[in-house]
Amino acid sequence: MLLATTQRAIGFVVLAAVVVGFIIWLFVNLRSGRDEVGAEIELAANRRPGTPDEELEGKRLNVALFSALGLLAVIAVGLPLYWLGEPGRQEGAVETFDETFVRRGLELYENGAQCVNCHGGAGVGGLANYVINDQSGSFVAQVNWIAPALNNVLYRYDEEQVRYILNYGRPGSPMAAWGAEGGGPLTTQQIDEIIDYLWSVQLPVEEMRLTVDDFVKSIDSDLYERMMAVRKSNADVAPNGDVEPVDANRLSRGDELKLGEILFNNQELAAGSYSCARCHVAGANYGKAWEPFERLQYGAFGPSLVGVEKEATEQQHFDLIWKGMDSGKIYFSRKQGNPQMPGFGVNRNTGRAEEGVPDLGKEGQLAPEQVWAIVTYERNLSNNSTVKSPIAGTAESPTFITANRGTAGE
Ligand code: HEC
Ligand code: HEC
Repeated sequence: MLLATTQRAIGFVVLAAVVVGFIIWLFVNLRSGRDEVGAEIELAANRRPGTPDEELEGKRLNVALFSALGLLAVIAVGLPLYWLGEPGRQEGAVETFDETFVRRGLELYENGAQCVNCHGGAGVGGLANYVINDQSGSFVAQVNWIAPALNNVLYRYDEEQVRYILNYGRPGSPMAAWGAEGGGPLTTQQIDEIIDYLWSVQLPVEEMRLTVDDFVKSIDSDLYERMMAVRKSNADVAPNGDVEPVDANRLSRGDELKLGEILFNNQELAAGSYSCARCHVAGANYGKAWEPFERLQYGAFGPSLVGVEKEATEQQHFDLIWKGMDSGKIYFSRKQGNPQMPGFGVNRNTGRAEEGVPDLGKEGQLAPEQVWAIVTYERNLSNNSTVKSPIAGTAESPTFITANRGTAGE
């Protein structure tokens, strides 16, 4: 800013000097020209005797050389100065560009595409009234399907994943395909504008974390105290938050089962955007967890997790929830990653500033002791008598639940 101001001042001085100089030059030239009128014979330049060498190589030469040197100096100083200010100038251009995108994104969010009707103002989350039909198009039920908060979505998904969801939607849910790529009404640029708008409404990391912690507190304040104590003990070991999740201190097993259950199942907190059940338990997104309609299991986008302890080690299990899935990568040493399993521990967009991706810090939606609690809870689902067995399957063959939700990521 300071640089830009001084630079501008110098620019004006140089400009003024050039203008004044030009006027003087013009004036002098016109004056000397006027003398010549009517006196061509005597005064025509080619008829006059040449200037003697003494004079040419004396004062005149010096004047010419010095003014050339002066001009050169102006260029030599002026160009680097301009070049110095260039990044700032470009940044300014990018900023106004982004602001325009954000403004247009807001317009689309609220009017053009009406995301606001389901996901709430500024992405706080909401409900979608939705009619479920069966494959033949017959009415099954009318439900209120939670539309997750989006003011935290760029912590759990990277930009490409969000773009994918906007383009293709979530088949079998109220979330339609919006991008032209997926047959929707919005252009690639409009999708980018909406993503820029979403960036502009992301909560600061502390505020986002606070919503989860406060939620736990509202349900079990003693558990909350113990959770915060464990977190503090981790922060004491690594004050800058660089504790390796593997080495993180954890709650007792009993507390992990309690905390895990709260976090896994909650549909209230930020419209289920911290919940696992909304994707992993049929019916959870519309208040009918484990009660899917007869023969048709609607609403589970991911597989049932009953029996997951046989699929992966604790560490693999933790890593998957912590980091999420990368498109096309193998997870649990056997499966192709579906790019729509969110990452809850690390912000998947961090460290990409040079690609122009905003950086909200490396923390994700959940802290290590919270993710460990979910891992423990999930690995105990098979033994948990309160978890109802899925209708069409058993705890041993829980794969049925992926029914009817398309093949995202293929
Ligand atoms: C008719 C209601 C409705 C509208 C309109 C709508 N959505 Fe959604 N959206 C949903 C629902 C419901 C889900 C959750 C689907 C599921 O259960 O998998 C969802 C999921 C999403 C997700 C994935 C979030 C996650 O964590 O799973 C994103 C991102 C998203 N919507 C963005 C948008 C944007 C941006 C718009 C506007 C262009 C929009 N949605 C319009 C209802 C809607
Ligand atoms: C937006 C939907 C969504 C949410 C929310 C979600 N998941 Fe997933 N999850 C998926 C999808 C999709 C898959 C992969 C399905 C596939 O590749 O077949 C998956 C896979 C998994 C797997 C691997 C299961 C296996 O046996 O392959 C685990 C474990 C898992 N999720 C845990 C969680 C936990 C814990 C949470 C909450 C903290 C969570 N998920 C929240 C969509 C979701």
